[in-house]
Amino acid sequence: MTIIQFQLNGAATTVEIDPDQSLLDVLRSRLGITSPHFGCGAGECGACHVMVGDRAMASCDLPMWSIAGKEVVTLEGLGTSERPHPLQRAFISEQAMQCGYCVSGILVSAAALLKRNPSPTEAEVRTALDRNLCRCGSHNRMVRAVLRAAAEIAAS
Ligand code: FES
Repeated sequence: MTIIQFQLNGAATTVEIDPDQSLLDVLRSRLGITSPHFGCGAGECGACHVMVGDRAMASCDLPMWSIAGKEVVTLEGLGTSERPHPLQRAFISEQAMQCGYCVSGILVSAAALLKRNPSPTEAEVRTALDRNLCRCGSHNRMVRAVLRAAAEIAAS
């Protein structure tokens, strides 16, 4: 067991844990963060994406030792029901989700993109979401939603 400290959604967080356990396991089973979902378990589908710094990363594939001292943001840290993130408002406006299983990871990937590049082109949005699978086929609406959110942020 090792003590790992990191920032989780803006709060200093300490866990005593097997350092090889995945961040996804620890978030869901120890820290009550349930938005990242287990999909493939192999870093291929994006359902478990969280933001580490300004990058979306597969938390199923991240051992705890690798996030020591880092800043991790999940969907829970993006917005609230009372104060949703512009991406969350845009996804609702564009009806950019169906079953919802992938949407947490997609919102995190989009938020990481907008953090690095607040005015992305459509091609840049498609590239940023390329690692997120959606079996419902909502990708075009998701791309529109990300561009809508970027426009809203730029106008604010
Ligand atoms: Fe982590 Fe698929 S569950 S990328």
